[in-house]
This record gives sequence, C-alpha cells and structure tokens, in this order.
Amino acid sequence: METIRIFDTTLRDGEQSPGCSMSAKEKLLLARQLDRLGVDVIEAGFAASSPGDFESVRQIGQQINRAKVVSLCRASISDIERAVEALKESENWGIHTFIASSQLHMKYKLQMDEDEVLQRSIESVEFARTHTDYVEFSAEDATRSEPEFLVKLFSAVVRAGANILNVPDTVGYTTPDEMFELIKLLKNEVYQADRVVFSVHCHNDLGMGVANSLAAVKAGARQIECTINGIGERAGNAAMEEIVMAMNTRQQYFDLQTNIVTEQLYPTSRLLTKITGVAVQPNKAIVGANAFAHEAGIHQHGVLKNALTYEIMTPQSVGVRQSQLVLGKHSGRHALSERVKSLGFELNDVELNNIFKEFKHLADVKRQVFDEDIEALITNNVRKQNNRFELQHLTVTSGTTSVPTATITMRVGNDVVRKAGFGDGPVDAALNTIKQITEQNCTLTSYVVKAITGGTDAQGEVSVTVEQEGQQVTGRGAHTDIILASALAFVHALNRMEARSSSMSLMTPLHQEAAAV
Ligand code: KIV
Ligand code: ZN
Repeated sequence: METIRIFDTTLRDGEQSPGCSMSAKEKLLLARQLDRLGVDVIEAGFAASSPGDFESVRQIGQQINRAKVVSLCRASISDIERAVEALKESENWGIHTFIASSQLHMKYKLQMDEDEVLQRSIESVEFARTHTDYVEFSAEDATRSEPEFLVKLFSAVVRAGANILNVPDTVGYTTPDEMFELIKLLKNEVYQADRVVFSVHCHNDLGMGVANSLAAVKAGARQIECTINGIGERAGNAAMEEIVMAMNTRQQYFDLQTNIVTEQLYPTSRLLTKITGVAVQPNKAIVGANAFAHEAGIHQHGVLKNALTYEIMTPQSVGVRQSQLVLGKHSGRHALSERVKSLGFELNDVELNNIFKEFKHLADVKRQVFDEDIEALITNNVRKQNNRFELQHLTVTSGTTSVPTATITMRVGNDVVRKAGFGDGPVDAALNTIKQITEQNCTLTSYVVKAITGGTDAQGEVSVTVEQEGQQVTGRGAHTDIILASALAFVHALNRMEARSSSMSLMTPLHQEAAAV
C-alpha cells in the first residue's frame, strides 16, 4: 500500500483564521503534539511575515526532529533568505515557496505577466535549492489557472530543482471530478512528473475541501496539505482528521495509508481548541462532541447489540476516551506527573511545579479533578508566561439591590494597578474595570461560557472574542468561579492583542507586505 504524506499547515494557514493566532510558546506546544501525531511535514509559519513568526519557525525547527519543518515564502529571494536564516540550524527542514498562476491573480494582485511569473519562480526555486534539497513549489490559485500555463510553470520549476509540486485550490472553487482531471493532466504533461511528488492544498469555501483532496490522491497526488479541525483562511482548509479517517476507514476503496497515529487525532484537536479558544461545532465529523453519540433509541439498541450497525469506526480509534476520574486532593506530584504525560504533554520541572500548585488549589475547591481540568490548567499556565497583563486580585459584588461593582488589581508590565468600576452585571463590571486598568479601547464581540465537565462544582470555561482596529483575537479562561474565568479570558485576549501589535510594530515594510498575503 502506498503512503500519503500529511503536510500540516495548522500553524500557518490555520493561524490565518480570525481569532486563531497563537503565541510562540503555544505554537511550540502544538508542534510537539503534531510530531507525536505523526505528521510528515509541519509548516511552522511564514518566517518573513513578522519577527514573531521568524522566531517561532526557528524554535520549532530546532525542537522538532522527526517531522520535516518548513517555512512558507513568497517567490522572492529575501523571503527565502529569511526562512533559511530561521531554519538553517534545524536537522530536518525545507522551503515552501509560492506564486500565483491564475490570470486574475497575475493581472490584479501581482501585476506581472506569465514570463515574469515564470522567471521569478525559476530564480526562487534555484536559490532555495542552493540551501536545501527539499523545495516545494505552490502555484497559488492553481485550480483557476490556465492548465497549459500550469504545465509550463510546473515543468520549469522541476527543471530548476523543485521536488514537490503543490496544487492549491486557494478559493475552494473546484469540484472532486475537476480536481481528479487536473491532477491526471499534470501527472501526464509536466516534465519528469514521475520524479516529483504532487501535493494538494484545498480550501473549504464550498464545503468540498476534504472531497477534493481525496479525489486528488485517487488521481495520483501523494501529499495532502490540511489542518487540524479544518481551521484556515475564510471557511478553512481540508480537515486532517477527516482525510485520515476516510482513508483509514475505507482502506479497501483507497488502498492508501498515512503515518498518522489516529489515536492522537482527538487529543490534538482538543489541544488546538484549548489554545485558540475556538471550539469545533458539535456535529463536526471525527472530533465533534456528537461524532460518536447515538441519540435515537433504535440506534442505541443496534449499537448495544453490535456496534458496527451504526458505528463505522470506534471512538477509541481516534483517541476519544471516556472522561475518567483521575485525581483528588490527596494525589501527589508523581500521580499528577504521570497523568500529565498520559495526556500527551511534556512539561519541565518548573512547569510541573506550577501546575501542581494550581492543581492543589483546584482539588480543594472541586472534589474530583478530571482530565479536562488538567488540560485547562496546563494551557492556562502556558499562556501566563511573558504576558504584559496579569490579573492578581478580583472582588465583585452584585445582587438584587446593589450596583454590580468590581475591584481589581493587575500587573501591567512592571507596575501594579488597582481600580474599581461598575457595570450592568458582575461580568460587565469586571471587564469594564480591566479595560480601565489596561487602557485598552477594544470591543467584546463574542462571549461564550460552558462547563468543562459535569457537576455543579465544574470549572466554567469562558471564550471571548475581542476586536480592536479591525483585528480580532480570542481569549480563554477556566475557573470554578465563572466571573473569574471571564476576567481571565478577557485578560488572555488582551495579552494576545498586545503580542500581535508589538510584533506588528517591529515589522519592516517588507514584513508588513508579507503579513498581508
Ligand atoms: O491557499 C493557498 O493557495 C495557500 C498557498 C500559499 C499554498 O495557502
Ligand atoms: Zn491556503
């Protein structure tokens, strides 16, 4: 059986989804999990787009050795130089360079003609090949490009040394039959097509990203670019968990395999939602809360008699476990450390000590500490580091007759600031006071609260989306007190906004142009 390479772009295209930006530390945590999941290639970012992206590509390249780590670059020498600078110390790395090939993009976006695009592509691939023997070339908007020009462009970059030819359906426009025909045509007509790997990168604007990716492998593509939970520009990218489980569940039909450890799919999806605060819809295939829930009595009856009646794959095969009682207030550091490892996290001693302290506090308030609680403690903790704002104390009073009032102390950089404020309710009072202290002029555009586990002592998990000057970020907080969880989520969002604007202010005009791509 042939193996399809899985190229993960959660940290690059995925991060381009509104509200999904991640800090360098969060990206590293996710990259480690992607490595454990068994992806073949990790697109760690776009090194030339900002100093922050450069640094996180560099860190991921240095810490991940099994999966290949690549950086996206425009077809430009300076972008490629920046990516090489970020990755040259890594053990296993490559370059992914792209340029648009459709008439529409060449005319209006690039203002280049076909010859200029050809020339730029050849120069970029040749230059990249002087630094690494792994060079992927993408023809952006390939599915709306003239097939003859695509064949010419791909043939030219193969001569220049590209080893992977990526066919993006950039705007999610194509259909499975068209994708099948396009890959067949390219495999027949591109120069030395049998010596390169064809790859696809499908967006989901018409809901066909996964179907188009699978049609491409049926036609001979051997790499699929995708993201966890299908996050990505606009309607997102093809979802990795769906692609992998389709090939796995319908093995006889596809006769193809991947290197993915399928039991790590669900833990990876959960880690991503914890980091970004962007939840998946309950009916999302494979990783949604209802993906394995049988509601109708007739279905439940069938599943009890023989699971195959209504289950085409088992929840265990994608790593969905029954939520289990793990620890309580008498559990020690060793038990916590073992549990943390079995949840797939690698923490150093300092991180484990911090989590242990918080775990003890939580176990005092909650009788039963579940896996989900521990995941929330870990992701909360990763976020705290290097933040400009930190919530230190919060007192809120509210009731039927009193005006809701919050008194809050925060660290802002190196200063400690204390203020009181009012609001329509206790959450509003807390958020208004935080805004006063941090002097942030942002708008809260979404506020969602849900319980992490069952029980009245469950931790409340709050996700907020905040908008400032057209930029959106999401923040998450979890606590047994939902007002505190709301304040933590808001402070998390403000820290992310702050991190984003300080990395923007360090950008050169070139960075800004690259970030706008
Ligand atoms: O969608 C797209 O065309 C891309 C390319 C940069 C590969 O993301
Ligand atoms: Zn894309």
